[in-house]
Amino acid sequence: MALLSVRNVTRRFGGIVAIDAVSLDVAKGQIVGLIGPNGAGKTTLFNVITRLYRPDSGELEFDGKSLLRTPPHRIVRRGIARTFQNVELFRTMTVLDNVLVGTHTRTRPFRSGAARERALEALDYVGIGAVANRPASGLPFGTLKRVELARALVAEPRLLLLDEPAGGLNHEEVSELGAFIRRLRDDFDLTVLLVEHHMGLVMSTAEHIHVLDFGRKIAEGTPDEVQRNPAVIEAYLGAESNEAA
Ligand SMILES: Nc1ncnc2c1ncn2[C@@H]1O[C@H](COP(=O)(O)OP(=O)(O)O)[C@@H](O)[C@H]1O
Ligand SMILES: [Mg+2]
Repeated sequence: MALLSVRNVTRRFGGIVAIDAVSLDVAKGQIVGLIGPNGAGKTTLFNVITRLYRPDSGELEFDGKSLLRTPPHRIVRRGIARTFQNVELFRTMTVLDNVLVGTHTRTRPFRSGAARERALEALDYVGIGAVANRPASGLPFGTLKRVELARALVAEPRLLLLDEPAGGLNHEEVSELGAFIRRLRDDFDLTVLLVEHHMGLVMSTAEHIHVLDFGRKIAEGTPDEVQRNPAVIEAYLGAESNEAA
């Protein structure tokens, strides 16, 4: 059974159809890629799944139960955590306090010794324990992305949504990220939905891939299948020539 099931979901912004009758299943334990050119609707779909945006129509199920009756502040407790494409952190707070924000659904009281210990463990796991007491502001983008990942992990999710985790990483870090995401999935018993522009990373990390273009799902399959799919090739070539124009 699918852990996450998106059924015919549409979300409009004024005249723009950001997500157009999209359906997709994410099987438990898989690393699933969600790709598509800029503006395809990937982040909007994350925002719908995490209930930041209400869909205009369609149904969303997580673990066999509707998500649409779950208010946004309950999403994490149901087992869904995410990182943001552009990083959403409290810049004046320390790295540790930002991660502690993620523990509040699991450990009370906030800032208890147990919560701090878990937050520090998560920071070590993502490789940035050394900056725990630094304010978030001023740290490099790639480090901030790791802070968000630690914050997501301490919430003990079953489904982790990663929105462009390679953003701000150098070439070497990107090449290590795929193995890291697989280790993360295994160590934390996660299901991962991965949005990423870095094709090499998605193709080598995801076991199944869904492709969006202008809000519509145009393809799904294994990395090999989607890379050979003419509609996918066309969507990416079209996007390139638009950027060149
Ligand atoms: N809050 C919003 N208000 C208006 N338009 C939006 C909003 N969020 C997304 N969109 C539009 O929806 C479309 C899909 O955007 P997005 O989901 O960010 O794409 P992607 O993440 O695939 O690059 C774009 O045309 C974008 O401008
Ligand atoms: Mg996006």
